[in-house]
Amino acid sequence: MTTALITGATAGIGAAFARRLATDGHNLVLVARDTERLQEQATELHDLHGIEAEVLTADLSTEAGIASAEARLSDRRHPVDLLVNNAGFGNKGRFLEVSMADELTMLKVHCEAVLRLTAAATAGMKERGRGGVVNVASVAAFVPRGTYGASKAWVVQFTQGAARDLAGSGVRLMALCPGFVRTEFHERAGMGTDNIPAWMWLDADKLVAAAMGDLARGKTVSVPDPRYKALMGAVKLAPRGLLGGITSKTGRKYGPQ
Ligand SMILES: NC(=O)c1ccc[n+]([C@@H]2O[C@H](COP(=O)([O-])OP(=O)(O)OC[C@H]3O[C@@H](n4cnc5c(N)ncnc54)[C@H](OP(=O)(O)O)[C@@H]3O)[C@@H](O)[C@H]2O)c1
Repeated sequence: MTTALITGATAGIGAAFARRLATDGHNLVLVARDTERLQEQATELHDLHGIEAEVLTADLSTEAGIASAEARLSDRRHPVDLLVNNAGFGNKGRFLEVSMADELTMLKVHCEAVLRLTAAATAGMKERGRGGVVNVASVAAFVPRGTYGASKAWVVQFTQGAARDLAGSGVRLMALCPGFVRTEFHERAGMGTDNIPAWMWLDADKLVAAAMGDLARGKTVSVPDPRYKALMGAVKLAPRGLLGGITSKTGRKYGPQ
């Protein structure tokens, strides 16, 4: 049996990863801040699938939280074979409307935690000659969308670079870039979603199934839906200057409010 560690496992995309990996027979280490919710989830997945599910309460916006997840990933007696860096959140508001403290918290969770947990996990994976890391980014990585988009662009670039450096070691890394997914994300950020057209919404379980397929195929960047693949194809062709104007206009009209 192999073990997977998932950050932000209690809700949305992270919970969908936990369900899928438990169904496939992997033991789990579930990481988030809400201990009660983690314990309920661990019990349910154990009872349903007969797997072992550990709970690790950690706030990845703090030094102590990141360090405790790093320590678990570095434990050579209980190796982790798959890391899913998924924990994340949105901040409502444009640049200068969001407090500097909230901007920095986002960089800590989306970038520093992802860097340090990826390093802690892949050091052991490289020694064992096998392992995988999925870093959950966003299609926002490809358009100018404030600190959120910039942090996700970092996740994509970092993951591609690390994947290249570890090529041939048996360790796979993949950045997962979803579009809008029905989760707790927008509600937690206090963002309204009435303007987002129905066709743009993805289902978390289907997203994870597609992501696992892309990881098995050895992709380093996964945009797992034909609608978003087409949109991102158009984005790649658009001139940078024009792109900023179009995406902020359409984002205001059809995006989270
Ligand atoms: N939903 C979308 O439309 C969408 C689109 C593209 C990318 N994404 C990305 O997908 C990832 C998952 O988001 P989601 O949509 O599934 O959101 P979600 O339903 O709000 O779930 C977020 C998860 O992250 C955990 N979390 C948040 N802050 C944390 C912290 N400081 N330390 C540890 N855990 C933390 C939460 O648990 P606790 O509150 O218990 O800590 C929860 O389990 C994020 O990285 C997000 O940027 C989402």
